[in-house]
Amino acid sequence: MALDRKTRITLNDGHTIPPLGLGVFQIEDATVCERAVAAALDCGYRHIDTAAIYGNEEAVGRAISRSGIPREELFVTTKCWVDDFGREATRKAFDASRKKLGLDVIDLYLLHWPVDETMMGAWEALADLRAEGAVRSIGVSNFTVRRFEDFFFRHTDVVPAVNQVELHPFNSRPDVREYCRGKGIAVESYSPLARAKGLDDPALAAIAAECGRTPAQVVIRWHLQHGLVVIPKSQHPERIRENAEVFDFALTPGQMSRIDALNEGRFVITWRPGGEDRWY
Ligand SMILES: NC(=O)c1ccc[n+]([C@@H]2O[C@H](COP(=O)([O-])OP(=O)(O)OC[C@H]3O[C@@H](n4cnc5c(N)ncnc54)[C@H](OP(=O)(O)O)[C@@H]3O)[C@@H](O)[C@H]2O)c1
Repeated sequence: MALDRKTRITLNDGHTIPPLGLGVFQIEDATVCERAVAAALDCGYRHIDTAAIYGNEEAVGRAISRSGIPREELFVTTKCWVDDFGREATRKAFDASRKKLGLDVIDLYLLHWPVDETMMGAWEALADLRAEGAVRSIGVSNFTVRRFEDFFFRHTDVVPAVNQVELHPFNSRPDVREYCRGKGIAVESYSPLARAKGLDDPALAAIAAECGRTPAQVVIRWHLQHGLVVIPKSQHPERIRENAEVFDFALTPGQMSRIDALNEGRFVITWRPGGEDRWY
């Protein structure tokens, strides 16, 4: 696949998604968040990943509206939190998110975490919203292969467009990637820089030196060359720009393999809503 700033990945519902987006988790200060999104839009990002639980949908919406960028160029994701799962509750949560973002239509709406049976009512609500045209694409987040197989696909035949999961060189989730490929589900890498824990890894440093790039750029490029959607977070305009300068170099197959070899199944996000026993 050719990779340039205008590349889009086609989802299983026919809509397209820019493979690089800005994540805004833990940018709680509205001014900082608005500035980060504005900086991202200014340097070419067209995809923003937020969630109701992040508490910054209004700031994201303000930055989008002030940017003056035509709506059709932008791709905005938000997520339904687990407390709002249920056919009616999810619709209400969606309306609140849409209002905060100041958008009529959301490009991608995700179930934030797989929990218990309430998630199937929420999934029906998402399917309804898509049928009504209020959402273009619907998907899930934090789904393991087991969650899909033992629970989700026993209750629905509506296939998500996207599964957003923690994925980075130290936990490259080969089982999830293979399973999703088989189902036509696009995989989005969250915490794609492993929250900057590991950017000083010697292998990444060596490849960065070979490419004349930073370790963060090398890691983002690795995601893109694997066909993943990648949503690095930064609240610093200079890093936001750095993270987008990944379309003018390429990793060799050997460099890709050296990064693949770093996988050790290590999660950087270990907290699970409701505790470990509600998630697998
Ligand atoms: N669906 C889910 O359950 C879920 C969970 C977690 C995250 N996400 C999404 O994924 C996005 C990204 O994940 P994340 O925020 O957990 O982690 P991340 O993107 O892997 O890492 C963010 C950290 O890396 C730093 N950083 C960014 N660019 C850098 C660079 N070029 N050089 C050095 N350090 C850099 C940031 O610092 P500064 O900000 O200080 O620059 C921040 O501390 C989130 O914002 C969110 O949208 C989704």
